Amino acid sequence: MIPLEIKDYLNKALKEGWALPHFNVSDAVTLRGICETAKELKSPLMIGTSEGERNFIGLRQAVAMARAYHEEYNLSIFLNADHHRSVSAAQEAINAGYDSVHIDLSAAQLEENIKSTKEVVEYARQMSNVKGQMSKISVEGEVGYLVTESSKIYKEVIEIPPESLTRPEEAARFVKETGVNRFAPAVGNLHGISANAPKLDFERIKAIRKAIGNEVALVLHGGSGIPDDQIREAIKCGINNVHINTELRVAYAEALRKFLAEHPDETTPYKFFASVIEAVRQKTAEKIILFGSVHRI
Ligand code: G3H
Ligand code: ZN
Repeated sequence: MIPLEIKDYLNKALKEGWALPHFNVSDAVTLRGICETAKELKSPLMIGTSEGERNFIGLRQAVAMARAYHEEYNLSIFLNADHHRSVSAAQEAINAGYDSVHIDLSAAQLEENIKSTKEVVEYARQMSNVKGQMSKISVEGEVGYLVTESSKIYKEVIEIPPESLTRPEEAARFVKETGVNRFAPAVGNLHGISANAPKLDFERIKAIRKAIGNEVALVLHGGSGIPDDQIREAIKCGINNVHINTELRVAYAEALRKFLAEHPDETTPYKFFASVIEAVRQKTAEKIILFGSVHRI
C-alpha cells in the first residue's frame, strides 16, 4: 500500500469534516507525549518547529526523531518548519529533510510575499524530485497577520485590527500565483492566549475557502484559547488543519513546576519529566478528539 501524503490527509479531512492536528515542539519530551497519544488514538499529525524551536532542538535532530517515531510507532507524522521568515531558513529545513515548510512573509508587502513564497514552492518541488522523497514537500504561505505571539498569556484584552484580516480576493490571488499547498489566513485568530476569547470570523473563513478552492488546505493558526465550539464551527466552514502550541507549553510548564515544588530534592530528569509527558498526553488527546482526527490513519 502506498503511504498517504500530507495532501491526502488534508483532502480526506476536508471531505470528511475534520482537521489534521499540528502541534509545535521544542524538545524530545513534548514530542514523546504527542506521539504516544497519536499512536494510541490512531491520529495522523503534523509536528511543527518554529525557527526558535528548531534552533533549540536542532534541524537534523528533529528530522531523525520524527522518522524514528514514524518507524517505531507506525505513525503518519509529518514534520513542518513552522513560521519560517526567510527563503533561506525555509530552504535549510527542506535540505535537512523536513516534509513541509510554512514560509511566513505575512509582514511583507503582498508582492514581495508572493515572489518569495513562490521561490520556496519551486525549491520544494525541485528538492522533492531530486531527493525522490517518499512524499512531496508541502508548502504553506500566509497573508494577513496575527498580532500576538505564541506562548504568551496576555493579561489584557486583545482587539484585532480589521486591516490585519485576510481578504478573500488576496487569498485567491496568492494561492494562484504561488502554487502553495496550504494557506494560513488571519480570521480573528491570534497566537498565544488573550484575556478575551477570540471571535472567529466564520463568514470570512467560508469566503476564503470558496476563493482558494478545495485543493488547498486552509490552516487555522493560534488554536490555543479558541473555545471548542468555535473550533468545530471553523472546521465546518472549511478549516482542515489546526495549529496548537501555547496550550501544550502551559500544560508542560505547570506540570513541571508542580512536580518540582512537591519533590524539591528530585534530580532525575526521567522522573520529573514523567509528569510532563502525562500532561502533554492529556492536552494532545483533548485536541485530537476536538479536531475529529481519531482513527483517521
Ligand atoms: O504556529 C503555531 C500556532 O499558530 C500556535 O498558536 O500558540 O496560539 O496555539 P498557539
Ligand atoms: Zn502560527
